Order: sequence, then C-alpha cells, then structure tokens
Amino acid sequence: MAEYSIRDSVAIIQLDNAPVNALSVAVRTGLYDGIERAAGDGSVKAVVVCGKGGNFCAGADIKEFDEGSKGPWITEIGDFMDRMRKPVVAAIEGVALGGGLEVALFCHYRIAAKNARVGQPEVNIGLIPGGGGTVRLPRAAGFKQALEMIVTGNPVRAERALKMGVLDEVVSGNILEAGIKFALSKAHIDTSLACLRNRPVRMDGLNIDTKADAALAHVKSKYKGFEAPMFCVKAVVNAARVPYDDAIQKEREYFFELRTSGQSQALRYAFFAERQIARWGLPGGGDYRTARAIPVRSVGVVGAGTMGAGIALCIITSGLPCVLLEQNQEFLEKGVTSLRGQLMGTVRLGKMTAGEAEVCLSRLKPSTSMEDLKHVDMVIEAVFEDLKLKREVFERLDKTCKPETILCTNTSTLDIDSVATATGRPDKVVGTHFFAPSYLMKLLENIYGSRTSPETVATVMRFGKTIRKVPVLVGSCTGFVANRMLAPYTAEAQFCVEEGASPAQVDSVLMDFGMPMGTFRVSDLSGIDVSFSIRREAARKLGVTLTVDSRYFRGQRHCSLIERLVEKGRLGRKTGKGWYKYEGPGGTVPLEDPDVLEIIETHCRALGIERRNVGSHEIQERMQLAMINEGFKILEEGICTRAEEIDVIWLYGFGWPRYLGGPMFYASKLGLKRVFEKICTFHKRFPHSQHWVPSVLLGKLSESGLPLSKWGEAAGTSRL
Ligand code: NAI
Repeated sequence: MAEYSIRDSVAIIQLDNAPVNALSVAVRTGLYDGIERAAGDGSVKAVVVCGKGGNFCAGADIKEFDEGSKGPWITEIGDFMDRMRKPVVAAIEGVALGGGLEVALFCHYRIAAKNARVGQPEVNIGLIPGGGGTVRLPRAAGFKQALEMIVTGNPVRAERALKMGVLDEVVSGNILEAGIKFALSKAHIDTSLACLRNRPVRMDGLNIDTKADAALAHVKSKYKGFEAPMFCVKAVVNAARVPYDDAIQKEREYFFELRTSGQSQALRYAFFAERQIARWGLPGGGDYRTARAIPVRSVGVVGAGTMGAGIALCIITSGLPCVLLEQNQEFLEKGVTSLRGQLMGTVRLGKMTAGEAEVCLSRLKPSTSMEDLKHVDMVIEAVFEDLKLKREVFERLDKTCKPETILCTNTSTLDIDSVATATGRPDKVVGTHFFAPSYLMKLLENIYGSRTSPETVATVMRFGKTIRKVPVLVGSCTGFVANRMLAPYTAEAQFCVEEGASPAQVDSVLMDFGMPMGTFRVSDLSGIDVSFSIRREAARKLGVTLTVDSRYFRGQRHCSLIERLVEKGRLGRKTGKGWYKYEGPGGTVPLEDPDVLEIIETHCRALGIERRNVGSHEIQERMQLAMINEGFKILEEGICTRAEEIDVIWLYGFGWPRYLGGPMFYASKLGLKRVFEKICTFHKRFPHSQHWVPSVLLGKLSESGLPLSKWGEAAGTSRL
C-alpha cells in the first residue's frame, strides 16, 4: 500500500510494502489513489513520492507475475502524472530498481540520497523494463548509457546517475525534508518542461541506424542464448525511432511476450532458488533459523597448490587476513607466485587497481609453520587428496589451533567423517568444496558430516557469502552432489563416443544446448591424468587393475579410452594433445585430431564394439537424463533437501544455462512422466550401467504431478 499525508502544502505518498516496497497491486493502487487525491486537492502545491524503511522501491513483486495483471499498470499511473500540473518529485534513498526507477522516471523530478542506487535489473529475470523504462530512461540518460543500464541490469550509484541525467540532485540529510523543499521550489514551474515524455531520446551525436545494428550484434554474442537482452536493445532502439506512445505500446508487447516465455520463467525460478538455498537444515536438528555463526576474522589455508592458492586469494580479496601454509619454502613460493599471478590478472582486467591489489597482498601471511595457525578462526585444508595425509594434517591442526577454530576440508571425494575422526572436535569439522579455478568459480559446496554442529554449518554458509561465493549445503556421499551427478554425465559422453560419436560432436551438442564448454574440452583443460588417477585409485582400493581393455569395472560398463589416451601421453592441454590437439603444450584452441579418431576406432575394434551413427538428440538425452536420474536419487537419499539446491549447484558449478533454470527445473519442463519412461527405456537398453536404474522417487513423482517446489517434501527427507 502507500501512505498519504500532507505537510507544508506538499502531499507525501510513501510506498509501504516491507522489506523493499515491491510494487504489488496494493502499492500500485495506493500510489495511483494518492496521485489522484493530490491532483484534486486544492491545498496541495506539489507531491513527493518516497519509500518507507530506507528504500524507495526495489521493483515489481515478482511473485505476482504468474497471476496475470491486476490493478493499475505503472504506465497508467505515469500517464496520470504526465498530465499533472503540480510537480511530482521522487525522493530516493536506498534503491530505486526496476519498476521503482520507472515510477521515479514518471515523476517530474528525481532527487536521491548519496547512498542511493538506481537501475533496471529486469533483464536478469528474462524481461525488459515494462513500465516505460526503455522509453523514458534513454530520454533522461541518453541512448548509450540507458542501453548499457538496461542490457546489463547493473545499477548505478547516485553520483553517477546525477552525471548521467537520471537524477536532478543528490542530497545529504533527511531525504523527505529535502524532497519537500525541492518540490516547493518547483511548485510554480510548468511541469510539462520537466516531463520526460516531452523530451527526445538523447543520441549525443550517435547515428541510430549504425548504433542499432552494432548493439544487436554485440548483445547477441555477449549474451549467447539469452533472449531478453536482444529485446532490451530492440525496445531502446524503438524508443529512439518512433513517437513516445508507440514506443510505450511496443515495450508492453515485448514485456508480455517475454513474461510468458520459458526463459523468463526459468530465470525467475533461478532467482528464487538462490534464495531458497540459504534455508538449510541438518538431519539431526538445527537450521538456519536457530544456528548462530561464529565470527570469522582470520583464516588459514593449508596447501598452496592449484586450489589452495586460489582459495587464499578469495579470502584476502574479501578483506580477511589469511595465513597460507605449505610444507616447504619452495612450494610456498610457487603458491604465492600463482596467487600473485591471478591477482595481477584481475588488475589487468581492470577489476582492481594495483594499489588495491597491494592492500590485498598485505593481508596474506605465507608460512611454513603450523604455529602460525594457532589463533585463526577457521582453517581450510587443501593438501593432496590422500586420506592418510589429510588425517595427519587434521590431527596436527586439532592440537595447534585454538579450541573454537573450525576445520574445513576441500576434499573432492573423501567422506567428511573419515577426516573428522582424526580430531577431538568432529562437531567443528566440515567440508568446503571449492571448484577449479577456485578464485573464479562461484560455487561452494559445503558438506556436513554426521557430527558437524549447526554452528559450524552456519559459519561456513556465512563465510561462503563473505568471500562472494554461492554456498550450498549438502550431505556427505561419494562425489557429494556436483561430482556425483557429473559422473554419469561424463560416462555417457564417453559411451556415446565408443558407440560412434566423436568428442567434437558431443561437445558441440552440449554447447549448442548452452553449456559453456563440452565435457571433452573440460577434460583436456583439467587434465586427463586427473580422472585417470582417480579411477586407478578407486580400482586399486578394490584390488582391481584397470587396463586399456577393461570394459567392465565392478560389474558396470566402463569406457577405457582415458587409459588409452594417457598411455599415448595425451594428457590434455598441458601436453598439447588430449581429446583434441592444440597448437602446442598449454595451447587453448581445440582442433579435431584424426589421431584421436584413429585411437577410438582401434579401441572399438579391439573390444568388438560396433560403431554406428549416434545422433545429437541421443547424445543430449543420454547425458542429461543419466545425470537427472542421479539428481532424484540424491533427493531421495536426503543428500539435498530440495531440487533448487541441485539446480543452483549446476548453475554455479558447471555453468548450466541460467535461462533453462537447472537440470531439475529442466526435467520438470520436460515432464516427469516422460523423463521417467525414457530412463526406464535406457535402463533396459543399458543394463550394465547403475546410473540407469530408475530413481524410486522419480517414479513416484512421475505419477503425482507435484510441482518442483514440493519434490523435497515428497522425498520424505526434507527437514524444513
Ligand atoms: P595440488 O597438488 O595442486 O596442491 C596440494 C598442495 O598441498 C601442494 O602444494 C602440496 O605441497 C601441499 N601440501 C601437501 N602436504 C602438505 C602439508 N602437510 N602441509 C602443507 N601443505 C601440504 O592439489 P589441488 O588440486 O590443489 O587439490 C587440493 C585438494 O583440493 C584435494 O583434496 C583435491 O581433491 C581438492 N580439489 C581439487 C580440485 C581440482 O580441480 N584440482 C577441485 C576441488 C577440490
């Protein structure tokens, strides 16, 4: 709703919908009524629109999007304001985003507090601004700057918005007082002069025809697969080309077209899923509502290798001091050099100044003495993936660190309990699984063990946010969630290659679908020897030796192409050849290699595998459905509590296209009945792959018609 009051002949309309005054039907109606009332009240000379609780307005109420349109639309309220003779002033503090900025752009004037930020972030949920933003912002900020704001969705600070022409004044002190004063100072000025409707789009010397084509081409390549940025360009270009009312009409058409599109639904889902994951709970009790995080003021990282150096960099760039520990001076120097190199990379990209980088480095304390970890609040262990070594490290950490220190392991495969039991504080041991490259990848998979306390979980969940990651809490099992789902996905890719596809064909299917990289390119990037060692180690533990001729492993279908590539020294990019060939060792451009195709042919002839034409559709279905089936098993076992957690893991861990929501959302759109039937068919066709055994939960859900938001509950393992 909106509160109406009068002071000093100025009507004050205060938007009121905690926490951020989202423009619900009630707020829009309240605003419209307030404006009408002020227009008709002879004692009112001017109007101030402001927000309650420190924010102007954060935009539309997204939850109402699926309910159709009710109440007055922003442009209807705006049209009324356009006709007002009394000046309407938007007094902005906090944020004016999306519909909030659009309301402000309909006001005759806009003033803002220094802390304010304004923006049109609709593109992030697959939309364009639909309340006049694409038509009015270019009239205030000029074509180029408005286009940038609308296409990127990035908000701008008050001072910049003032320079751009979006604001008329930036003020300090009480925003409402300033608003009233400003409004009275404009009471005698003809409002039509200040009305954005009456101004042309500022082109600042740009030619709309050449600019339009360039902008479309740029957006098409930068936001590959996303439809909303293209529509943003089209709408802003249109605003520069056609009369105001026609542009508003077109904007509305585009907006409604996008609102019902699959992409916007998926992006809205992803938006809410990211908020859902903060609501964690432990099977033994304790959840985000009751557990208190302990303050983390300093961190230690053990192991300055590939992962540790990047993790330490995340810590120091978020303002926390970090002790980086290595086993000897040589490895320590290597680690610090790598960290510096990554930091300088961000300076080169203009994301940080050289001075800021130096400040970050001053927070780093490289060390070879465990004594330096005595007083830190948290330690993240990132030594080799070797249980014996990790247990030794944890035993020493337990003895050295103060009793409250939380001990985290970055293990990618080991059970958390197997590490925790090396200490006398298993309640303070937890998994913090970063993804490579650890400085850049946003996902942080936090894994609780059977004795991890709620406080420890609360601490790592908050820590994840502090270092600007996306933390998701999961239970402990082989591969946790991300790698467990990745296993059948990559296995199917290799089986498809054995059966007749080429690595390049598989990769292009995945990239056409929207994945940033194909699985074979990723394998070359991270090193084929890495998967080789993991497989060999798993086999060794079972007393089995994997050879180039192994077709089965533990009774399961197995593809030994990796063993063949390693045998030939094809370890990936680092050796200049792997599934592809490169311009040389360390090369980055993958080229199809006839030698690899020959290796595959020889492999198949030797094992009697008949090759055939494997179609793109089959590749996509097999890889995705095998992984989705695993996702349902993960839910069924309570490793995750809701499908949203799995989807966020895929969005941030593997770059699943956000406009497709995530694999579980994607499955919901395919229809669970169809998904289940397909998986059953594949199970019959490939009986030697455990990953095709259909999930019991999926079977149940395929009959129930329950929406995705209820799948966790249906699994019976949901704790919240
Ligand atoms: P790495 O081999 O690059 O680095 C490990 C470092 O630990 C080495 O520099 C080594 O000198 C150091 N180290 C060994 N013992 C030590 C000790 N007692 N005290 C101090 N430092 C010691 O290994 P990487 O790839 O960084 O992996 C580390 C951990 O992260 C492993 O548990 C791995 O499974 C996990 N991980 C690795 C990912 C990857 O893509 N490389 C992804 C996610 C997790």
